[in-house]
Amino acid sequence: VLCWFYVYPVYRLPRDKDIVEEVLRQGEAWQKNQTGIDLYRKLLTECCDPKRMFAVTKENSPMGKVLWYDGEFYHSHTVNNETYSLFVQENPLQLPLKKCAVVGNGGILRHSKCGRDIDQADFIMRCNLPPLSKEYVEDVGTRTHLVTANPSIIEKRFQNLLWSRKAFVDSMKVYGSSYIYMPAFSMKPGTDPSLRAYYALADTSSNLTMLFANPEFLRTVGKFWKARGVHAKRLSTGLFLVSLALGLCEEVTAYGFWPFSVGLDEQPVSHHYYDNILPYKWFHAMPEEFVQLWHLHKSGTLRMRVGHCP
Ligand code: CDP
Repeated sequence: VLCWFYVYPVYRLPRDKDIVEEVLRQGEAWQKNQTGIDLYRKLLTECCDPKRMFAVTKENSPMGKVLWYDGEFYHSHTVNNETYSLFVQENPLQLPLKKCAVVGNGGILRHSKCGRDIDQADFIMRCNLPPLSKEYVEDVGTRTHLVTANPSIIEKRFQNLLWSRKAFVDSMKVYGSSYIYMPAFSMKPGTDPSLRAYYALADTSSNLTMLFANPEFLRTVGKFWKARGVHAKRLSTGLFLVSLALGLCEEVTAYGFWPFSVGLDEQPVSHHYYDNILPYKWFHAMPEEFVQLWHLHKSGTLRMRVGHCP
C-alpha cells in the first residue's frame, strides 16, 4: 500500500507558531506602496483581465460560446437562449473602485471591532453569504457591495430552492442591493442551484443583481497563484476576491483572513467568526495563501487587518 506522503511532494511551510511570531514582529506598521499596487494591477490585468472577465457577460460570452468548467475535467456549457438571457450586458461595476474591503470569514474578526472600519470602505466584498446579524455588526459591519454564494449553500441551507424560496429571498435582504457572485459554471452540480437562485431573486424583484463568476477568470487566477506557490486543488473564495480587488481597486484592505487556530494573543481562535466548522482538509491551502497575502501586506500592496481595529 502506498501512503499518500510517498506520492505527493511535501511543501515546506512555516509552522503556525512561526507565522504568528512573524506577524507580531511586524506589528501594526504598514505603509502603502503605490509601485506595488500598480505592479499587481498590471500583472493581474495581463493574466486574468478582471475588468472584462470576472463575470459571465453577454459581451464576453455570446450565444454559442463554450464555457469550460474550471473545477471539472472536460465539462462545458454552451451558451444558449436560456442562459444568455440571464447574463448582464457587460461588467456593471463603476471603475475604478477606490477603497475596497475584502472580508474573509475568519474567527479573528470576532471581537475585532472592525465593523466601522469595514463600513467606511467604498466597495465591500464578502464571502459565502455570511451572517450580518446584530451580534456581529460591531465586528464585521453592515454594508455589502458584492457577496459570493457557493451553490452548495443553496443546496444545504435552502433545500436547493425546490420548496419555498421565501427563506432564501428574505435572508438575502441583509445584503441590500449588492451583487451576488456565484460560480455557476465551476462544478457541474452547481449550475442548476445557481440558475434557481437567479430566478428566485428575479421573480421577487429583489434588489440584488446576480453575477455568474466566469470560469475562465477563475482558472487564470488559479494559475496566477499556482505560479506563486499556492498549491491547492482550488483557491479559497477569499483569495479570488482579493485578486479581483487588486485588479479593480485603488486600495485594498483585507479582514478576517487568519486560517490558524491560535490568535496573536496565543488564545484559541475559531475557524469562522460565527462558528467553528473546519474546512475539508486538503481542498484549500489557506495557510499557504496567508503567507502570500502577508507578503503583499509587508510590501505595502494591500493591507491585512489581523488584530483589533482602532
Ligand atoms: O468556502 P471557503 O472555505 O473558501 O470560505 P469560508 O470558510 O466561507 O471563508 C471565506 C474566506 O475567508 C476563505 O475563502 C478564506 O480566504 C478566508 N478565511 C481565512 O483566511 N481564515 C479563516 N479562518 C477562515 C476563512
